[in-house]
Amino acid sequence: MNATPGSLAPRFPFPLDPIGWFCLGLSAELRPGQVRTQAFMGREVVLFRGEDGVPALMDAYCPHMGAHMGKGGVVCGSALRCPFHHFEFAADGSCVRTPYGHEPPRAARARTWPVCEVNGLIFAWHHPEGQAPSFDLPNLPTDGFSGPHSHAWMLRTHPQEITENSVDVGHFGVVHRYFDVTENAPLVVDGPRLFVAYGFGRAVEAMGLRVGAVRTEFTGQVHGLGYSTVDSYVKQAGIRSLHLVLPTPTTPGQTELRIVLWVRPDPTLPGAARLLHLLPAGLRTRLIAHFAFLGYKNDVSQDIEIWENKAYIHPPALAKGDGPVGRFRAWCRQFYAAEALPTA
Ligand code: FES
Ligand SMILES: [Fe+2]
Repeated sequence: MNATPGSLAPRFPFPLDPIGWFCLGLSAELRPGQVRTQAFMGREVVLFRGEDGVPALMDAYCPHMGAHMGKGGVVCGSALRCPFHHFEFAADGSCVRTPYGHEPPRAARARTWPVCEVNGLIFAWHHPEGQAPSFDLPNLPTDGFSGPHSHAWMLRTHPQEITENSVDVGHFGVVHRYFDVTENAPLVVDGPRLFVAYGFGRAVEAMGLRVGAVRTEFTGQVHGLGYSTVDSYVKQAGIRSLHLVLPTPTTPGQTELRIVLWVRPDPTLPGAARLLHLLPAGLRTRLIAHFAFLGYKNDVSQDIEIWENKAYIHPPALAKGDGPVGRFRAWCRQFYAAEALPTA
């Protein structure tokens, strides 16, 4: 694609609603009986949690006569009751009750999306043709970790552009100021999943002055375009952390990017970090998690201006040292309906 940055031409040649699991928010922020209006894949939707605790995602506009079910809709058992004529819709979208005393009309069926909860987060499966989920999300082993710590931005970009960062080795040094970047294992592609492993050095600064450096080794897993994990270890500080990168398309051309972090300090804390043992264990963990999360937020913030303004150039003019961008892009094609894609 030859989009001119700054022009009104679309910046992405691929559909704005990729196939896959996409995050809708934190489980703890949706109580039983709660109904929330969201934007998802360019549509207005309602996310609700039944009184049985099961979450469901439904088109906001009632299939009966179009009332907005996020404006006065009420959870009844595991169903959602529309505010206009009190038809009730089950989590699968079927109309299960009307106040008229007759059989509910079969045609009154709301569009729904499969929903799952993993690691205290709610995800919806999207397929433009309504096909069932073709892969699962992993449950991260977070026992003994502090978290989840979470933050979300609304960005003018596409999940593929954000996810491409995982293989864009060239920007690690320029945008994030990492150095001595190593590829610890070659990129592995396994169906809808992709695996990477890198290491890098980074400066430790105090009051604007460089006081040392640490080395981070990490493995990354990408499960579709809406869910990436990074498992990282900073040996000098004894800190292990699990990161999630969760971009979800909302309104056309907009993506909510949520990041989530769990942190586990090494109980033996090496080097100068041993001084932290002077603090009570709970406070020590919270303090380490707080600063680790600030650092994570800061790292992601460094990418935002690029993402919000770049165009997708394909084929890119790659140079040695760029990382496996071509393989990543070929892998991405499975997340779009084939007829919606330009030829490679
Ligand atoms: S518009 Fe929803 S029940 Fe009539
Ligand atoms: Fe980045």
